[in-house]
Amino acid sequence: MLLSTPAAGADPLWGFGDFLGPAPVPHVSAETCEACHTEQHEAWSQSRHRGSVDNPVYLAGFAAEPHARCMYCHAPGPEQSKALLRQRATLVRERSLASVPKTSLAHEGISCVTCHLRGEEVLTPNAGTTSDAHPLRHAPAMAESSFCASCHEFLGHDVVDGRTVLNEERLQTTWSEWTAWRARGGEGTCQGCHMPGKAHTFRGAYDLDYLRGALSLRVEPARGRLVAVVESRGVGHSFPTGDVFRHLWLWADDRPVARFGQTFSLSFSEEGQARLRRSADTSLKPFEPARVELPAGTRRVRVTYHYARDGEVPESGPEAPGHIVELAALDIPPSTPPAPRRTR
Ligand code: HEC
Ligand code: HEC
Ligand code: HEC
Ligand code: HEC
Ligand code: HEC
Repeated sequence: MLLSTPAAGADPLWGFGDFLGPAPVPHVSAETCEACHTEQHEAWSQSRHRGSVDNPVYLAGFAAEPHARCMYCHAPGPEQSKALLRQRATLVRERSLASVPKTSLAHEGISCVTCHLRGEEVLTPNAGTTSDAHPLRHAPAMAESSFCASCHEFLGHDVVDGRTVLNEERLQTTWSEWTAWRARGGEGTCQGCHMPGKAHTFRGAYDLDYLRGALSLRVEPARGRLVAVVESRGVGHSFPTGDVFRHLWLWADDRPVARFGQTFSLSFSEEGQARLRRSADTSLKPFEPARVELPAGTRRVRVTYHYARDGEVPESGPEAPGHIVELAALDIPPSTPPAPRRTR
């Protein structure tokens, strides 16, 4: 039958699957599902989930930090992680999956099987769906934000005596940010915003229209100066969230005047072990406009979005590490002097 190729048994790297039951995730390609679920397949093919291993930004990150634990989320199937880790040195050197066998599901990244298959059952969030094509199991949790949390929130790690040990510092915090947004009256799930109409494109920061629609920029006078007001719109977590290197810059003409995002500091213990810890978080919070006083004479303000850390020279193309896009810009007419301070 369709799903009759069970994967290797328990694998210490395979943890995500436990969320929906300990059954192994079969080795089944998305192509198997394509014929009958064309719409979902087409959308998923365009998604960052599909490209979670072979995209250049990830491969550059993996080359810098080639840890086995990256597989837990970027290539969570046991077969995927094994195929990739077998080629670890080559991946670091070549930053491409050319050395990984074509038959490996590693090329599919986070695939249909990752989210939908446990044992021989296909999980669906919908009650009452039946199919002759394959067994279905009703898993209401799929429609809840907690389903996304096991990958979209996680702790950092230290390397102690060559071993990777989790530490107490949260690296990505999208789930907690979403929880905080809800506590302040926000309504909706991850799926509601990122899978409208159940679309599997999982639109996010690589969808420029979506990103631009999420930011508002205006300029207003305050205390005799001009102030830029930067605010997120319709975002159920911090902006940016997710990958720790994502950040925004506000520019006054050619001068960067404010950075919105996380900052991590690298220090070394007496034994020489590297420690990465969060030193600041200036990302835009929902319902909290950021106000930045502009230098006198500013003629143009802009906000740029940076996909990777500063200092990495932007290479060509939107996929290059260091890639930068402009989200908003405003010209300030020369006739808008900050209202002169009244003297009595
Ligand atoms: C031979 C055709 C066929 C193949 C191949 C197939 N499916 Fe299905 N699937 C169906 C049919 C028919 C249904 C019944 C509901 C429907 O029409 O969507 C269904 C239902 C589902 C549902 C529940 C939809 C709902 O509305 O609740 C999910 C999820 C699903 N399939 C996922 C998969 C995945 C993942 C694969 C690949 C591993 C797959 N299917 C392969 C035919 C197929
Ligand atoms: C617990 C899950 C998890 C683990 C472990 C993990 N990541 Fe990620 N990673 C994510 C998620 C979720 C995103 C998407 C966030 C976003 O798009 O902002 C991501 C995004 C990234 C990105 C940005 C990709 C892009 O397209 O811009 C890079 C680079 C990255 N991860 C590298 C790594 C490396 C290297 C490791 C291992 C040291 C690792 N990740 C371990 C979950 C994880
Ligand atoms: C990152 C996890 C993830 C991946 C990868 C994924 N899905 Fe889904 N899928 C979901 C979630 C979550 C829902 C339910 C969304 C909701 O109810 O709001 C869903 C719903 C569905 C449905 C039901 C749609 C409906 O109208 O109710 C089908 C069919 C489906 N997925 C098929 C697939 C196929 C085929 C693939 C691979 C090409 C795939 N999915 C990849 C998470 C995923
Ligand atoms: C198995 C782990 C895993 C699960 C489960 C998962 N994601 Fe992801 N997601 C990732 C990783 C890893 C990336 C980053 C891929 C890349 O760019 O390298 C990502 C990327 C994304 C992006 C694109 C981010 C961007 O920068 O554009 C969105 C949006 C997203 N996920 C939403 C969701 C939602 C919503 C769910 C739950 C329905 C979910 N994810 C479930 C691991 C996961
Ligand atoms: C109210 C709508 C909304 C909700 C709820 C929501 N998001 Fe988002 N998300 C957005 C918007 C809009 C963006 C684009 C702006 C941005 O990048 O923050 C985004 C961006 C992202 C990104 C790209 C990273 C980045 O650059 O910020 C990831 C990853 C993501 N969301 C994951 C999630 C997950 C996981 C959940 C649930 C825990 C979730 N989102 C809930 C609207 C939402």
